[in-house]
Amino acid sequence: MSHSLVTMSYIVATILFILSLSGLSNQETARKGNYYGMLGMAIAIVATAFSATVSSYVILIIALLIGGFIGTKAALKVEMTQMPELVAIMHSLVGMAAVLVGYANFLDDSASLNGVEKTIHEVEIYIGILIGAVTFAGSVIAFGKLSERISGKPLLLPNRHFLNLGLLISAILLGNWFLNSAEMGGGTIPLLLMTIVALAFGVHMVMAIGGADMPVVVSMLNSYSGWAAAATGFMLSNDLLIVTGALVGSSGAILSYIMCRAMNRHFLSVIAGGFGTASGGEAAEIVGDVQPIGAEETAQLLLAAKSIMIIPGYGMAVAQAQHTVYEMTKLLRGKGKKVGFGIHPVAGRMPGHMNVLLAEAKVPYDIVYEMDEINEDWGNVDVSIVIGANDIVNPSALTDPNSPIAGMPVLECWKSETTIVMKRSMASGYAGVGNPLFVQENTRMLFGDANAMLQAVLKALNA
Ligand code: TAP
Repeated sequence: MSHSLVTMSYIVATILFILSLSGLSNQETARKGNYYGMLGMAIAIVATAFSATVSSYVILIIALLIGGFIGTKAALKVEMTQMPELVAIMHSLVGMAAVLVGYANFLDDSASLNGVEKTIHEVEIYIGILIGAVTFAGSVIAFGKLSERISGKPLLLPNRHFLNLGLLISAILLGNWFLNSAEMGGGTIPLLLMTIVALAFGVHMVMAIGGADMPVVVSMLNSYSGWAAAATGFMLSNDLLIVTGALVGSSGAILSYIMCRAMNRHFLSVIAGGFGTASGGEAAEIVGDVQPIGAEETAQLLLAAKSIMIIPGYGMAVAQAQHTVYEMTKLLRGKGKKVGFGIHPVAGRMPGHMNVLLAEAKVPYDIVYEMDEINEDWGNVDVSIVIGANDIVNPSALTDPNSPIAGMPVLECWKSETTIVMKRSMASGYAGVGNPLFVQENTRMLFGDANAMLQAVLKALNA
């Protein structure tokens, strides 16, 4: 394939990626957005495979087969609830690729560059490996935390901010050493030392993050993986990688900003690690009596209500209860009730998790509300139903300054007349904090698997 045809294909792929991103920003166009992305990626792979830069088709085909096999197997096997873990481990691969490409470029002396060009190339290598190693180590730890292989409890080392500062200064000094010794054909030792420093920073940054703050870290690592890909693009002089990397990097950064705002956190303190976790005292203990309720009594409450708000959380995804929820919604709306869904920005385990599930069950978009839209309106709600949610409806985020989730905005469903919470036990949510909502006077606990309980309620409603 000629160079200009490859460039043309890359431009088309870039446009498709941009269309894909804009499509994904809205539920109604998300499916189309996915198709644009798939088409763009197919064009990019074909154009790269047939470009003059490929010297061995055997290696390329072997790599494509291995990558394709692992990707297909993982995609077929992964549960919807494991998606964030998969995304985290994918980010780590982008980071690792940047590190490997950086070292390959460093060791490859076939490009005879001189003067400023050589220095620019060395800076690209250094920054590419630095971002790649931070992304790789951070994403592996994020994967461990999301899959609960590593405890969600933040690891707060003494003087951790000084440790971070020390690592940053070492990376800068090592960069200076690398550039000076690379001039004379050396540089391996500072490059290796910097890689260790960057890996340590990535591990430390994510280990210091508490469970409830993981969404911000996931979107931040998403952004880092984009910049790592862009750095790889610079090292390989591949325009498409630079553009796609920058798209992922900047959209990830915007998402991190939105997440920070939604969770009332400062972006800088996220990057420094362990934010929102440095409170002085112990979180308050939850005292009070739980008032259980059965499916039939729940149905009666719903039949007596005029306005009902459903709050889905991670447990709805685990129970795959979205279809039953919608069945119940249709039935209640048929009886003239006003039924809506209140969505917290970090409900579930990935951005937009609940919206995806509700869209899958074909819940109309106009009855799905964002947190800001409904938090003013709880006084007009007769019954709020919390389905497998916990942290996102925890009042201690607003009332207990020592709580690990202090300051995070939550859905204030306790202000409705009655709240029904569906979950299997009194266990805490992802952040590992007790929830005083469960012992409020106007709360009833409907214990059991969300799907099974909803079916029982549906049966009682039909009867
Ligand atoms: P969580 O606070 O994790 O609570 C989920 C609840 O669902 C649990 O308390 C669990 O209680 C219940 N549950 C689990 N399986 C169930 C089943 N089959 N049937 C009924 N209930 C079930 O979830 P949330 O309220 O959605 O909050 C999300 C949390 O995850 C936040 O802390 C957030 O920061 C964090 N997080 C979010 C993201 C993104 S981007 N959304 C990413 C990483 C982390 P039982 O065991 O008693 O049933």
